[in-house]
Amino acid sequence: MKSLADPLGDWRRTDGCGLLRTTDVGRAVTLCGWVHARRDHGGVLFVDLRDRTGLVQVVCNPAESPAAHERARDLRLEFVIAVRGTVRPRPGETVNPDLPTGAVEVVASALHVLNTARPTPFPIDDAAEVTESTRLRYRYLDLRRPAVQRNLLLRHEVAHAVREHLTRLGFIEVETPVLARSTPEGARDYLVPSRVQRGAFYALPQSPQLFKQILMVAGFDRYYQIVRCFRDEDLRADRQPEFTQIDLEMSFVGRADVMGAVEPMIADIFTSVRGRPTERPFPVLSYRDAMRRFGTDRPDLRVDLELGDFSACFAGTGFRVFAEALAAGHPVRGLAIPGGGATLSRRELDDLVGFATAEGARGLTWIRIGPDGWQSPATKFLSEAERERLTAAAGLEAGHLLLLLAEPEPLASAILSRIRLQLGERLGRVAKGEDCFLWVVDFPLLERDPDANRYAAVHHPFTSPVDEDVDRLESEPLGVRSQAYDLVLNGTELGGGSIRIHQPDLQQRVFALLGMSETEAQARFGFLLEALSFGAPPHGGIALGFDRLIMLLAGAESIRDVIAFPKTQRAFCPMTEAPAPVDPAQLRELGLRVVS
Ligand code: AMO
Repeated sequence: MKSLADPLGDWRRTDGCGLLRTTDVGRAVTLCGWVHARRDHGGVLFVDLRDRTGLVQVVCNPAESPAAHERARDLRLEFVIAVRGTVRPRPGETVNPDLPTGAVEVVASALHVLNTARPTPFPIDDAAEVTESTRLRYRYLDLRRPAVQRNLLLRHEVAHAVREHLTRLGFIEVETPVLARSTPEGARDYLVPSRVQRGAFYALPQSPQLFKQILMVAGFDRYYQIVRCFRDEDLRADRQPEFTQIDLEMSFVGRADVMGAVEPMIADIFTSVRGRPTERPFPVLSYRDAMRRFGTDRPDLRVDLELGDFSACFAGTGFRVFAEALAAGHPVRGLAIPGGGATLSRRELDDLVGFATAEGARGLTWIRIGPDGWQSPATKFLSEAERERLTAAAGLEAGHLLLLLAEPEPLASAILSRIRLQLGERLGRVAKGEDCFLWVVDFPLLERDPDANRYAAVHHPFTSPVDEDVDRLESEPLGVRSQAYDLVLNGTELGGGSIRIHQPDLQQRVFALLGMSETEAQARFGFLLEALSFGAPPHGGIALGFDRLIMLLAGAESIRDVIAFPKTQRAFCPMTEAPAPVDPAQLRELGLRVVS
C-alpha cells in the first residue's frame, strides 16, 4: 500500500503532555504541543510544553543533547514543537506540587519545530487581564487557556450524559429545521430572505416548539434534541443571540411526568460534577407564593431573606404615603432583615432609598431598631399601635432593619426582589456553594401586554390552561392558571415548559384571547391547527438552557465563557466580524435594498 506522507513523519506523539506521572519514569516519549514558557538557567533551557491535557517541563541540556538544546534556543512562546526524550523524576527541591506533572520532567534528546508563532496579543494564561473584545477577536488564542478548555470539556461531558439519560428513558433525537417559520417565544426573529420566493422570509427558530409538538402528533412519543435556538433580544450575561437548549417533548403525560424525566437527570449531572449528592425532590412553589415571598418568579433560595406583606399594620394609617397606596389597592410590602439595622450605615440606607427611587418608586421607608429604640425618617408619622403591630408582624428585635415599600405591582416586586439579593450579598446571608433548585408552577396563562391593549401569553400561546380554569378563559382571562413549570437554580431560570393544548378549538380560543383573528391564526398557525385536528395526543415538554446549565456548573461569570464562539453584547463576532455588509449583487438577487 502506498504510504501517505504526513508533516509529522516519525514525530508521532506517544503521550499527552499533562498526563505524565512518576509511573512513566524511564519511558521514551514523543510529545507535541505549544511552548508555554521558556527559561534559560545558565545554559540549560527549560521549556513548559502544553497541549489539551496540560503542561510538562522539558529540559534541554547542551551536555546531554547539543542538537536539541541548539533548536530550543530559537524557540519563542506558542511555537508548535515535537520533542523526543525520556521521562525522569525531578530532583527533590524542584518538584512542583501545584502541577499534576510536577514530579517529573522530560529530558529532550531531539526537538523539531512544527510551526512558528508571532508574539501573541496577550499571554496564554488564565490570570491575564485582557478585555473581552480582544479575547473574542483572537478567540483561538483565548481558547488555548486551560480554564476555557475545561468549560468546553465539561460542556461535552454534560451533553453526553444528557444523551445517555434521555436515550435510556426512550427519547429519540430528531433534528428540526433551522430555516423555519416564526415561533413566538417573546423575542424578535432573525430572518433569512428567500431567493426563490422574493419577498418571503424564513425565520430562524426561537425554539423548535411547534416541530416538537408535531412530532408528538406524528406518534414519536418521546423526542429530544440538543438544539440551537436564535433570538434577537437585548443581551445580558446569561443571554446569547444563538444559544443551545436541551429540548424535549413527551406524549400521554402530565406536568409531574415531564418534571420527573428532567429532575433526576439534572440532579445526577450536578452530583457527578460537584462530587456531592444533590438534594431531591426539588421544592415546588406556586407562582403566587414565589411572588409573595420573594418578589420574583425565579427566586434565589440561597438568600435567607423573605418579603412580607405589612398592609394590615397600616389600616387607617395617618402616614399619607401608605394611606394613599392602600386606598389605591396597593399593599405595603417589606423586607425584614435581622442584623441589617446594626450593620448598614446611614449612607447605605440612603443608597437603598436612592436605588428604589431610581427604579421608579416614590420612596422607600426604612426603620432600624438601634440601641436607643426605633430610628426612621417615618417615626413621627407612625402611631404607637402601628409600631406594635409592625414589631409583631415583622418579628422586630434589636439590630433589625425593616424596609417598607408601597407601590403598585410589578414595580414593588421588582424593587424588593433586587434589594433582597443586594442585602443578602452585603450581609453574608447567601449560602455560597449550594445549589438551590426549585420548580415554579401555576403561572398565570396570560398577562397584559404592556405595549398593546390586549393579553400576551406568559409562557407561549401553546401552553394549556389548568383544566378547572378553562371555563373562565373568556370571563376572567387574567385569573386563569397555566400548566407551565419553570426550573430555577440559584436565581437563574434554567428551563421552562408546559403541558400543551392538544385540541384545535381550545387553541383557537387562546389565539382569540391573544387578539388573533381566525384568519390571522389560520395564516400563521394553520398547519398547527390542522395537525391538532388529526388526532393529537395529550403532550407536554420542556426546554433547558444548555449554556446556562454549563455556566452554573462551571461557576462561570458569563454565558460567553462556556460557548466556543460567542457573540458580544452587541451580537457581534469580533473574530469573523459577523454580521457584515454583503455584496450588492447578493442583495439584488434576493430582491433587497438597504435603506440607511
Ligand atoms: P423558554 O423560552 O423558556 O422556553 O426557553 C427555555 C430556556 O432556554 C434558555 N434561554 C436562553 N439561554 C441563553 N440565551 C438566550 N437568549 C436564552 N433564551 C432562553 C433559558 C430558558 O429557561 N419552547 C419553550 C420550551 C417549552 O415550552 O418546551 C422555550 O423555548 O434557560
